[in-house]
Amino acid sequence: MSTPHLDAAPDMIADTVLLPGDPLRARHMAHEFLDDGREVNTRRNMLGYTGFYRGMRVSVIGSGMGIPSCAIYATELARVFGVRRIVRVGTCGGVGDIELGDLLLAQAASTDSNFNRLQFGGHDLAACADFGLMRAAVDTAAAQRVALRVAGVFSTDCFYGGDPQLLARLLAHRIRGVEMESAGLYGVAMREGFQALSVLTVSDHLEHDAHMPPTQREQGLARMTALVLDSLLP
Ligand code: ADE
Repeated sequence: MSTPHLDAAPDMIADTVLLPGDPLRARHMAHEFLDDGREVNTRRNMLGYTGFYRGMRVSVIGSGMGIPSCAIYATELARVFGVRRIVRVGTCGGVGDIELGDLLLAQAASTDSNFNRLQFGGHDLAACADFGLMRAAVDTAAAQRVALRVAGVFSTDCFYGGDPQLLARLLAHRIRGVEMESAGLYGVAMREGFQALSVLTVSDHLEHDAHMPPTQREQGLARMTALVLDSLLP
């Protein structure tokens, strides 16, 4: 079976999928974390792999950037491949009292995108994480003594430009991260009936013009991936 965007055979995608934005990140994660990892998608270079993490079958597939791309993959994974759990593992810009390299669990995702309104008759959807996945991630982080911040994020369509007052609005609402996908992923999950979660590494900060150096970025993403995979184990 294949879809317009995924050329994988039906049984080649696991029912649990990690979804980084960058397809090369998906390849790197598969090499670092999966036993017997096999390439299952190359269509549009949106690389995808399926293998085993401590005996759990899992796929890692790139989502691309932005809600439209992420929502296409999430929808096809759920509808056509029967995927039941999708965890976005990405990066975000920090807002307020959060530091570069911190891990942020997106409890809910506000947005300037119209995507969820298009699906929801023009109303505002409260796009939120699956409680079971969120609880498992929080418990795993506590058991491993890994600091994991739980807060709202903002999924923007505008990496450049957009609302000039955005930072002030985010601070006023205690939102701690800006990225470009979670509100769409959560909206699709609520509609399609699968579990979804976003865990993000703070890679830059909106108030300090700071960016994570490559080594720290690498270590942070590895730490986040290990935490997420451990939290998904039965
Ligand atoms: N992803 C990582 N940093 C970001 C930022 N500052 N804005 C939007 N998406 C991001």
